[in-house]
Amino acid sequence: MKFFIDTASLSEIKEAQDLGILDGVTTNPSLMAKEGITGEENIKNHYKEICNIVSGDVSAEVISTDYEGMIREGQELVKLHEQIVVKIPMTKDGVKAIKYFSERGIKTNCTLVFSAGQALLAAKAGATYVSPFIGRLDDISTEGLILIEDIRTIYDNYGFATEILAASVRTPMHILNCAKIGADVMTGPLSAILALLNHPLTDIGLAKFLADYAKGNK
Ligand code: E4P
Repeated sequence: MKFFIDTASLSEIKEAQDLGILDGVTTNPSLMAKEGITGEENIKNHYKEICNIVSGDVSAEVISTDYEGMIREGQELVKLHEQIVVKIPMTKDGVKAIKYFSERGIKTNCTLVFSAGQALLAAKAGATYVSPFIGRLDDISTEGLILIEDIRTIYDNYGFATEILAASVRTPMHILNCAKIGADVMTGPLSAILALLNHPLTDIGLAKFLADYAKGNK
């Protein structure tokens, strides 16, 4: 499973990249705003900076909601860097825009997916990635992981090439369960990724090894 980090924070992206396990980055307008990145030029420059830190795909989301606007914006975004993937919302115009880009070999990430039917449409349109938001489904007492399972079944039934990018991942258990189900990619915060490192028996075992070494090497 590929690991993407879901942030626009350059320091967090660097930290994950330094760990050596990072395959890409996803951003969205809320994450850019959280980092205080505003204005068209600043936003574009920020995407370029992110691309210079990581070697994998970097999702950059369009703001337009109409087909022509999405095409115009997407074309501008892909000019920024070869790693840019155009992130497009799951709407009627969004599906048409995904089809347009897929026919031209431009990578897309279909975002704000909350049902298997939406994921089926995204795959039919040729999306490179589909982003089911599991955390936000959990937030409304609906099991987000069941959606990942359903999409996995549907895509495997027909051999769709669209990659399942489990999004709105919040916890290390989300990551593990996505891996068990067979999500192709997960995108989550640095905190959830780093939490995978932790086990008290590792800490206790390491402390004992070091203490025993110290005893014998005074
Ligand atoms: C997906 O690409 C989104 O950026 C993201 O995963 C949303 O996560 P949230 O529900 O924690 O905001």
